[in-house]
Amino acid sequence: MVIDRDYRIIQANNTLLKRHGKRRSEVIGRYCYDISHGMAEICRSPRHECPIRLVWETGKPARTTHAHVYEVEGVQRKRYLDIIASPIKDQQDNVIAVCELMRDVTEAKELEMKIAEAHRNLSAMNTIANVVSQSLDLDTILSSALNKTLEIMKANRGGILLWDEEKQLLRYRVYHGLSAEHVQKVGYRSGEGIIGKVAKTGKALLLEDMSTGSHAAYPNLIAAEGLRGFACTPLKSKGKILGVLYIASHEARKFSSDDMLLLNSIAWQIATAVENAKLHQEVQHKEKIRGELLQDIFSIQEEERRRIARELHDETSQILASLTANLEAASEMLPAGENKPKAMLKKAQTLSIKVLDEMNRLVYELRPTLLDDLGLVAAIKWLLDNHLRLAGITVNLKIAGRQRRLPPRLETTLFRVVQEAFSNITRHASAKNADVTLHFKKSDIKVHVKDDGKGFDVEEAISSKDRPRGLGLLGMKERVELMKGTLSIRSRPSFGTEIDVKIPLNQEEVPNG
Ligand SMILES: Nc1ncnc2c1ncn2[C@@H]1O[C@H](COP(=O)(O)OP(=O)(O)O)[C@@H](O)[C@H]1O
Ligand SMILES: [Mg+2]
Repeated sequence: MVIDRDYRIIQANNTLLKRHGKRRSEVIGRYCYDISHGMAEICRSPRHECPIRLVWETGKPARTTHAHVYEVEGVQRKRYLDIIASPIKDQQDNVIAVCELMRDVTEAKELEMKIAEAHRNLSAMNTIANVVSQSLDLDTILSSALNKTLEIMKANRGGILLWDEEKQLLRYRVYHGLSAEHVQKVGYRSGEGIIGKVAKTGKALLLEDMSTGSHAAYPNLIAAEGLRGFACTPLKSKGKILGVLYIASHEARKFSSDDMLLLNSIAWQIATAVENAKLHQEVQHKEKIRGELLQDIFSIQEEERRRIARELHDETSQILASLTANLEAASEMLPAGENKPKAMLKKAQTLSIKVLDEMNRLVYELRPTLLDDLGLVAAIKWLLDNHLRLAGITVNLKIAGRQRRLPPRLETTLFRVVQEAFSNITRHASAKNADVTLHFKKSDIKVHVKDDGKGFDVEEAISSKDRPRGLGLLGMKERVELMKGTLSIRSRPSFGTEIDVKIPLNQEEVPNG
């Protein structure tokens, strides 16, 4: 349409007439705000900024978008009009009228809003996913998820309640905007109140104002907390209801179905995170028990070895020693010339000495008294002589740092690890040389064992299932990790093998093992 200085319509095209269902004569001469909006005065911001006034003031075209609210069969709808107002000028460049072009952009606008909404939901989901994947600690996950949810949904109160299997109650795990007394007081049985109902049915519930009606299980407490607009959704994972998430506002509020969809997706993510955190907790708990059991086994094993070693040493070797002495005496008692029986007795005597030697070695392997009496370095020196050097391997031993006694359990661990490493070198490596270093530092002790043997594929050796004997390498690792240390093995076929162990020393004194 074309409009004059008094906002009266001078001209209108057919589309405009059709849109308003009027004849030309009913439109010409009428005020534009009357025809367009049925209003008695000119359009004002914010919804209806008048572009025409601007054109008269500036002499330049102006553009705006009007939102028109109207009703179709009792339902309010909005239409958006893009309006361009341009001046019509005379030859002296004076504005004499304004031409207003209107275009219906409702669909584009609605699409734009849908995209914005989808974007909001996606970025909310993304935020929640980020928040819940930051940690495996249940309380950390839940409180940051709740805070983010409240922020996204623009609500100021809320809570996450989890099902307590033992008490058969839903209890608060995290909350926001509620008093601590409230949180401590309330607990919901399945089906009790709105929260219990959501947990029982697994279906979300919305209330525009929960302070009216008799929905709540604790109406007075709820009123005291000022909970009104309310949206509650179950936390479900793998068909099991773990708890509920709710958000609330201190004034009546109608949460939309879009809000609900978003809340449900958030709840789904939280439930998955809760499930993961619980599994993680369980694994950690089992891991702790496994460590304790393993420690017990190692302690019992050491104790048993110590006992057997003592018995062998104190009793059996005494008997063998006196057997050797008796054989000697018997041989001397034989009359001269009894050469044959003498030779037999001599042979028996040699054998019993050999058995005695062998047994002493066994006693040492089992549990060298050296380790208890003189400590790690002495015991390792003994191992060097009796394993590696005996097998013809040249050994270079280096002790660095301030050599000293360490807690007994730590000495035992290191001794067993080195014992296994040496036994592997003699049994598997075909090495010529070996380097052994013990480094006593202030805060940790390091052991390095290196051979120039044939090497092996570490991955394969450790993961190999069909192993008749060998918990050797794995056992080493387990023992070191129980002491909060690290063990690394570097080896490649035909390149030799290197083992590094590092165990921290500043741990609390540990029981004897
Ligand atoms: N120093 C080494 N040199 C070469 N091969 C080794 C060495 N240490 C271990 N291995 C290889 O790794 C395997 C696993 O070792 P381990 O776990 O101690 O079990 P076991 O000694 O009972 O075979 C050995 O069978 C051997 O093939
Ligand atoms: Mg071995």
